[in-house]
Amino acid sequence: MPTEIVGTEGELAQRAAEIVCGLVREEPGVALGLASGKTPLGLYAELARRVRARETDLSGITAFAVDELHGLSRQHPATNASYFREHLTRQVPLRAFHLMDSEAKPAEEECARLLRLIEQAGGLALVVLGIGKNGHLGFNEPGSPLDSRCRRVCLDRPTRETYAPLFGSLDGVPAFGLTLGLADLLGARAVLLLATGADKAEMVAQALEGPVAEAVPASALQRHPRLTVLLDREAGARLRHAQGAS
Ligand code: GLP
Repeated sequence: MPTEIVGTEGELAQRAAEIVCGLVREEPGVALGLASGKTPLGLYAELARRVRARETDLSGITAFAVDELHGLSRQHPATNASYFREHLTRQVPLRAFHLMDSEAKPAEEECARLLRLIEQAGGLALVVLGIGKNGHLGFNEPGSPLDSRCRRVCLDRPTRETYAPLFGSLDGVPAFGLTLGLADLLGARAVLLLATGADKAEMVAQALEGPVAEAVPASALQRHPRLTVLLDREAGARLRHAQGAS
């Protein structure tokens, strides 16, 4: 499992963009799974820069958001619909971008629709993930089974706390999310995990060097044969085995 400690957030964004663009150069029509959150913002900005500079062409790819809040308006600024419009699709023309619908009823049909679309797109060639402070992947919270599929989940308090500023209070944060399951994420042909900052260091170490356990959903990634991990110095500080900047 290649784990690279790349130094700064900026270097991490560059390296992640190289990996994504390298894949797309080889297979221009692939499907990608993409996480939201603060961590991949530098990657999306770098992809937008490369597209503007005509250094890369992403117009053949089909992208999927890996999760979404559930039970609030699609227009709400906290949805992934708003996030990806602002940080990716406004600047980067893609063949298609599929989101889970934050207003979907019933959620089961929405999840089945997403899984069908992924299958029709030939499966995910690469999924780009961040890690939650509680070890979640997408919205697969601690306790998620390794064989879980796309579904509606109850959000843990630490996850809801990170959203509280966008809702004015913890009470305003939706209680539920929609997420690709751990089996869907591990079903991607390659996985790129990104983490930055000291507050992720302990979870990164548990996920990559601790036992594979439902209590730490990101530990499931150890089972993936093509996992690349990119960390900045702070996020990699608790690892015993890693390569790159020290
Ligand atoms: C969020 C998202 C995840 C994301 C994670 C980390 O709740 N559901 O897809 O990877 O938490 O977010 P951040 O990068 O802001 O730390």
